[in-house]
Amino acid sequence: MSEEVFLKLEGVKKSFGGVHALRGVDLEIRKGEIHCLAGENGCGKSTLIKAISGVHNPDEGSIWIDGEKVENMKPMDAINRGIQVIYQDFAVFPNLTVAENIALNGELKNKTKFVNWKQIHEVAEKAMAQVGADIDPDVKLERLSVANKQMVAICRAIINDAKLLILDEPTTALTAREVDKLWDIIRSLKAKGIAIMIVNHKLDEIYRIADRLTILRNGTYISSGDISEYDQERFTRDMTGKDITEEKYMPEPGSEEVLRVEHLSRKGAFENVSFSLHKGDVLGITGLLGSGRGEIGEALFGLSPADSGKIVLNGKEISIKSVSDAMANEIGYVPEDRLTQGLFMQRSIQDNTIAASIRQYMKHGRLDKKGMEDTTNYWIKELGIKAPSPKPAVRTLSGGNAQKVVIAKWLNTHPKLFILDGPTVGVDVGAKAEIHSILHDLAKKGIGIIIISDDLPELVQNCNKILVMKEGKVSGMMDNSIDERTLGNMLVGSSDRGGEKA
Ligand SMILES: Nc1ncnc2c1ncn2[C@@H]1O[C@H](COP(=O)(O)OP(=O)(O)OP(=O)(O)O)[C@@H](O)[C@H]1O
Ligand SMILES: [Mg+2]
Repeated sequence: MSEEVFLKLEGVKKSFGGVHALRGVDLEIRKGEIHCLAGENGCGKSTLIKAISGVHNPDEGSIWIDGEKVENMKPMDAINRGIQVIYQDFAVFPNLTVAENIALNGELKNKTKFVNWKQIHEVAEKAMAQVGADIDPDVKLERLSVANKQMVAICRAIINDAKLLILDEPTTALTAREVDKLWDIIRSLKAKGIAIMIVNHKLDEIYRIADRLTILRNGTYISSGDISEYDQERFTRDMTGKDITEEKYMPEPGSEEVLRVEHLSRKGAFENVSFSLHKGDVLGITGLLGSGRGEIGEALFGLSPADSGKIVLNGKEISIKSVSDAMANEIGYVPEDRLTQGLFMQRSIQDNTIAASIRQYMKHGRLDKKGMEDTTNYWIKELGIKAPSPKPAVRTLSGGNAQKVVIAKWLNTHPKLFILDGPTVGVDVGAKAEIHSILHDLAKKGIGIIIISDDLPELVQNCNKILVMKEGKVSGMMDNSIDERTLGNMLVGSSDRGGEKA
């Protein structure tokens, strides 16, 4: 690897009002390296990326790109210097085709009167060939899976001679297999001499891809070095300032049955699913995309109800035909796609926290504002939500903190059964441990907890039972003595469709 530095930051500071997002950050990205940026939710990773890409100018500090000091950079200047960012939402246009998304921007810059469609196709095909993407250039983006949308965003980023490609949490919405494919692409870009910076919280993913690592905490630079210098202990300690060790969840064997599901089926989604949960159990449901793992959660919450089968909650058979049925039966659900399904981004943390439990705060026809605020402060503290008060709009929170608000919203309904699809995606290690310990406590109190996930380490550590789905059917019910590798092998099958949703 060349040791030549492409990007250098020194003492970069940035505040928003009274919030010090960056308090002095140093960073060095070498040409052609894969560099991971890690740190707890709200520590300033996304803000740092925006400072590098000209979206925010730092209040203080210096930035050098390719040896040249830059000041008052605009996004276009950063692009012209070879810096390309892929944000979490990819910023693709759903109603344009793959080819248009990749190449239209460049074509429009040509300033000729006519759009050259032939050229757009050529540019798009060339970019796709470079990353080894095999997507129909004429299909509209809205029809693609998340992984393929991301691929299109990468293609668009590299056509303009990128020297540094920055990806903000690129793996959060991907399945394990899609992550492997993404890493292959990243490696091939590195081989072409492009430097890559990736924001990621998961050490097991980082190990497989990164050359070096930089850790931030609370807006401050903490450490940086070769990936081999970090083991799980140091990684966690540098991120959190604490030693966090999560032990495998081993509840007392429970007696009372909390939930029993018998022969649950929904045509085209899953078939003949049966399982039961006792007091203390935390049940994990896993499987590849398309295995039916997410659909079971949707059925239990009434989003797409089952066609047949039986659901017994706390000894009583219940019928779930809609979300209101589920809520009437005190079932809570944290969806996978929480940014669109779980939150009102423009509203305050408080409005979101009490959104599903507002009735608790109605007293004699009036809203108990004090109660609402106290509750919100309680959850802010309990879940470690990084926010100065219950007032700010959720939109201003960092990604992981926004996610904690969704969890608070449902915890505050005090559900009898709580289903979480990918509950800690994008959540840092410290907060992850807090969320898990809350779920364990709830389970011990007799609340049914179901975690749907493809994060195998998370499942093995936190669920004492794991239901494995394959092609819509239950392929096994494991206890947590199973190791990750064996569990991983159970997920893959010959007729896997590789994660295309369209
Ligand atoms: N436009 C803004 N206005 C006000 N505060 C902001 C703004 N952007 C970021 N912040 C605050 O700056 C801090 C750093 O946020 P940032 O999004 O950079 O964190 P992050 O490290 O990317 O976190 P995550 O892992 O959760 O995505 C947070 O406290 C956040 O609330
Ligand atoms: Mg972020």
